[in-house]
Amino acid sequence: MEPKYVEKAVIEASYESIGRIRSRLGEAAPRYYIETYGCQMNEHDSETLAGMLEKMGFTRAEDKPNADLIIFNTCCIRDNAERRTFGNVGFIKELKKENPALILGVCGCMMQQSDAAKRMMARFPFVDLVFGTNELAVFPQLLERVMEGERVLEIRDTEGEIPEGLPIKRNEGFSTFVNIMYGCNNFCSYCIVPYVRGRERSRRAEDIVEEVRRAVQEEGFTEVTLLGQNVNSYNGNGVSFPELLRMVNKVEGLKRLRFMTSHPKDLSHELVMAMAECDKVCEHIHLPVQSGSNRILKLMNRRYTREHYLELVRDLRENVPGIEITTDIIVGFPTETDEDLEDTLSLVREAGFSAAYSFAYSVRQGTVAARMEGQIPEEVKKARLARLNSVIMESAVGQNDKYLGTEGEILIEGRDTRGEPMMFGKLPSLKMVYVKGGEELIGQYRRVRINGIRFNSLAGEIID
Ligand code: 5AD
Ligand code: SF4
Repeated sequence: MEPKYVEKAVIEASYESIGRIRSRLGEAAPRYYIETYGCQMNEHDSETLAGMLEKMGFTRAEDKPNADLIIFNTCCIRDNAERRTFGNVGFIKELKKENPALILGVCGCMMQQSDAAKRMMARFPFVDLVFGTNELAVFPQLLERVMEGERVLEIRDTEGEIPEGLPIKRNEGFSTFVNIMYGCNNFCSYCIVPYVRGRERSRRAEDIVEEVRRAVQEEGFTEVTLLGQNVNSYNGNGVSFPELLRMVNKVEGLKRLRFMTSHPKDLSHELVMAMAECDKVCEHIHLPVQSGSNRILKLMNRRYTREHYLELVRDLRENVPGIEITTDIIVGFPTETDEDLEDTLSLVREAGFSAAYSFAYSVRQGTVAARMEGQIPEEVKKARLARLNSVIMESAVGQNDKYLGTEGEILIEGRDTRGEPMMFGKLPSLKMVYVKGGEELIGQYRRVRINGIRFNSLAGEIID
């Protein structure tokens, strides 16, 4: 089925709004500040908001007190998110007292959840603008209405469309994100994402390749991460994800290609082979397992088994030499027993993850798991999380010895000033390496030999 694109006329109307706001602002150059919560997808949406604002003539503010427009781009994947957001929005009241012209907007996933948007408007009369995840492309029109004195709440309950052709102001650095798809169809039973991000839809492959080309050849980025909730089910005008990787791999000037996130149920052998073939694709995959217990995986609606997952790990290690695998794990899912936890711990040991992000299960209203019996008490979740974390650390640290004496290439990203100042960068496998050197190295790709281990990162020397 053809995905729905945001109509050209709507995008054009946005550019017209941008133009009108630009002439209205004239020389004023007001400043914006965007505070982003949650995942890379949100970060990337914020880059699009920033792109539109800069076209209007706004410039970036260093912090909130110096801003004329503040936007909170919210997340709702786990608890606390909501409490924190409400707290931080509340704090803006003081800034508004000092600067009554300050415009305050709240957007993103949390606003898309049941009545959160209405509650935000009701609780904080000084919020000027609330919009959801489907309104990115109409943000200029909404802002224009606010500037005319209206208080605006806009949450459209669409199945989700693809916005093409919006300006992007990418965060500084050498590494950037390109969205290849939006939404998710998997309905893992614990997860709110399919409800707040809509149905899965893939961008056209040629639009993606063109965006990567521009980021690399016109904006100077050398590392690109392709983003989607489940990149393995990418299907843009008949192009599969392995085919897309091969297409992007050809972009001249691109040095490193990464992608996330992969769902184990859709990770094909063809993708493993494409990773092996494409010279720019990094030897790393983020492959969330969530649990090592088949019973829990079934309740989570993940649609693979522990055995299948470990088979994928074997396939990846066999065909992509040096690959590092990272994962996400949830403990304390409804009905989880100590035995289920043991299954997860043994999977962690067997799979040999280089890093794992662990979470205590958090009830999301409206999801299937929220209605399950056998919810686990918070203190049990906490204890299980601590146990999991120590196994993860032990397993990850234990893998580092294999790097001693090896050589590889790192992209030097910055300077660490804690203790003795050192430069740091990442290998394609995402392993962090610390080397001696000055700031002039930032942005360079240099060959290093690994000669030490620093807890869960490596130490090396530049050899080229
Ligand atoms: N509770 C805890 N963790 C969750 N995640 C997603 N939903 C929940 C939830 N309700 C975790 C999953 C996912 C990561 C992005 O967040 O591990 O992979
Ligand atoms: Fe959530 Fe599952 Fe979709 Fe990931 S694949 S966004 S965990 S529903």
